[in-house]
Amino acid sequence: MKGLYAQFTQSMLEPVHDQTCYDILGVKVSPPAQECTALGGSLRRSWFMLGEGAHLSHGAYGAASVFVQNTGDAIRAKMEEDPVRFFYELLFPALSLSLRRTAQFVSGAARNMAFVPNVEFAISAALQSLAQIELFPNGCKILVTSLTYGAVKIAAKEAASRKGGWIDVVEIPTCDDCTDEEILRRFRGKLRGSSIAVFEHISSPTGLVMPVEEICKLCREHSVLSVVDGAHSLGAAEVNLERIRADVYTSNGHKWLMNQRGCAFLAVSEQVRDVLHPVLASWGHDKGFNAEFVWQGTMDYTPMLTMPAAISFLTWCGRGNPEQVYRRNHRLACWAADMLSYILDTKTLFPSEMVACMACVKLPVYANPIEELRLVLSQNEPRVQVAVFFFVVDNEDDRYLRISCAIYNDVWDVLTLAKKLLDVIRAPEEAHRRLRRKEALVNLDLERSLDGL
Ligand SMILES: Cc1ncc(COP(=O)(O)O)c(C=O)c1O
Repeated sequence: MKGLYAQFTQSMLEPVHDQTCYDILGVKVSPPAQECTALGGSLRRSWFMLGEGAHLSHGAYGAASVFVQNTGDAIRAKMEEDPVRFFYELLFPALSLSLRRTAQFVSGAARNMAFVPNVEFAISAALQSLAQIELFPNGCKILVTSLTYGAVKIAAKEAASRKGGWIDVVEIPTCDDCTDEEILRRFRGKLRGSSIAVFEHISSPTGLVMPVEEICKLCREHSVLSVVDGAHSLGAAEVNLERIRADVYTSNGHKWLMNQRGCAFLAVSEQVRDVLHPVLASWGHDKGFNAEFVWQGTMDYTPMLTMPAAISFLTWCGRGNPEQVYRRNHRLACWAADMLSYILDTKTLFPSEMVACMACVKLPVYANPIEELRLVLSQNEPRVQVAVFFFVVDNEDDRYLRISCAIYNDVWDVLTLAKKLLDVIRAPEEAHRRLRRKEALVNLDLERSLDGL
């Protein structure tokens, strides 16, 4: 009999069939019995444990549906029934089926994909591996963007410095200057002489959706390796790896796919597959890409096994089509940002066609300092969770709100935020008047149109 690692590697070539990882584990997964009839608050009461208040910060750490949580609990119970059998006999075949289902969802090839605990893990493994290869005659210049997530920028600096290299930054335009063409023009200007380009699919904290397919194409034309940070993309927008064609693409399961925390996928191109290694060298070492990544020490692999449940749940919410969920959340986020910028008499950070389910609004100058605002919004009833951050536009350091809209949010959450915000920042009477005007316009039609999947 072939070894466990060889079997796992071989299984990556098998198609996805009717058997699920839950069949292998002997875990009963009960999908919601009835059809999904409405998103928004009613869904939150049935499926989430968020309590009262408005949770408009899903982009921060995500929130798993009760369906996914129950699936995870059943898997953990199975693991504790007989840990030796679980790890020795069941885990690898179950992981294989879970990974192949995930690959199918993002139109990727399972043999070029692995599960890792999170996006930072994937990015560090990728950059440390790629910076080591002798592809770069002029030294290792790693390109990041002005929107790159702080920890990812640190990982890029660290990987470049190990090879005596450095990082360079593509400045991403904001407000009405931000178009796909302008982003591509700025990348074009910086790619010459670069070794690796790291960029976001959906940026945090701004919510900007980047033209990743076109940037990857530009990278190929300039012989630059592309590393896409898709921490926010899976479940927020379509991810089609076949079309994107990145050298490295990684995305978190716990944010918009609403999986449990502790699972991201890493997908690689054929070109880099054999040079990319996990940071942790373990039993699969030197046995090829799939074997090296499948075992990362004894830990709880449950979040990697609940990915198919999370995909099913998202698909259920979209009544068979996840696109419906992406569209609905996008509409709510754009409506929220437009409404708030109108009542606050400020601007949104990006045009609505450039964002997905997170949108940002500038706070007025008289608003409270960031930390104070966060605390007052989140601590007193009704509690409102929303991201507040500094961002530089036209050399001015301004404060912004990032409104995340998930399937359990609706217009009432946004109105709760608006009312509380106006009170907390002691907005002028004109802002309250505007809010009342907007409230009067919010009627069941908007609700219906958001939920009219
Ligand atoms: C754009 C972006 N990249 C990377 C990360 C890191 O994700 P994780 O902490 O799951 O590794 C985040 C987290 O919010 C993010 O927003």
